[in-house]
Amino acid sequence: MWSGTPLFPQQASTMAPRVDALLFFLLAVATFFSVVVVAFKKKYAVRFRRCAPHDVGARIHGGLVLELTWTIVPLLITMVIFVWGASVFFAMSRPPDETLNIYVVGKQWMWKFQHLDGQREINELHVPVGRAVKLIMTSEDVIHDVFVPAFRVKADVLPGRYTSIWFQATTPGRYQLFCAEYCGTKHSGMTGQVVVMEPTEYQAWLSGGTAEGSLASAGEKLFQDLACNTCHRADAQGRGPVLVGLFGKTQSLEGGGSVVVDEAYVRESILMPGARITAGFQPIMPAFQGLISEEQLLQLIEYVKSLQTK
Ligand code: CUA
Repeated sequence: MWSGTPLFPQQASTMAPRVDALLFFLLAVATFFSVVVVAFKKKYAVRFRRCAPHDVGARIHGGLVLELTWTIVPLLITMVIFVWGASVFFAMSRPPDETLNIYVVGKQWMWKFQHLDGQREINELHVPVGRAVKLIMTSEDVIHDVFVPAFRVKADVLPGRYTSIWFQATTPGRYQLFCAEYCGTKHSGMTGQVVVMEPTEYQAWLSGGTAEGSLASAGEKLFQDLACNTCHRADAQGRGPVLVGLFGKTQSLEGGGSVVVDEAYVRESILMPGARITAGFQPIMPAFQGLISEEQLLQLIEYVKSLQTK
């Protein structure tokens, strides 16, 4: 049953050695103090045992040096753990500027992956070695959790919003992907594999995929099919805000305040347009909640993103 399940997962991302170094440090500290505490306990249990039936222990009125020692030493050790842990945490939660973005949709009980070039995969994710990959993730139903032990990355996948993780694989190979949040009957079967390939092989794989066109072009078509383009016109004469160059900007809102136009805001503006209206516009857009799928939302978001460069 355990064949092929190593006790300790192999290191296959840039983050893995850093996470492991911290883990081993924590284990070493815990082991050292466990041994010291148990050793002293044994020693004093023998040394101060009751020898006569009416022995009474001596009164002790504290020891300043001892108390300072057991306060300052743990403080220093925990500060080391805090600073070290925080630096690993920051590195994990801040992806580099240039990442290969892949969308992930979790669903009872499968993982759906969507590459920007249009390839879709289920329970298998192909990525190139040596390149930072960012997973932008959401769920169609309940909370799931992406976990790739060999990369030491793990994050919840939540319905109704986007979370992300990033990793840079260092070794080509196949790595197990798990769902790490109980999500119903077949939770334990909600697994998959990450296939890390050499860049040339990856390019070959990409071009050998389906010819559905890129995510952004699918979004553009949907944008027209849903008649979004009748209001969101590029010439600022429409009844909705111009979307060109909008993504990533800070937008002023009707009624005060502002919002950074990110995936979450675009998503909200499609599903519940009335939630946060752009300053100077009327709340006239119909809500698309329940009318379009998570995949279609991703297509529209990619289309809005693609309007940057034009
Ligand atoms: Cu999905 Cu557990």
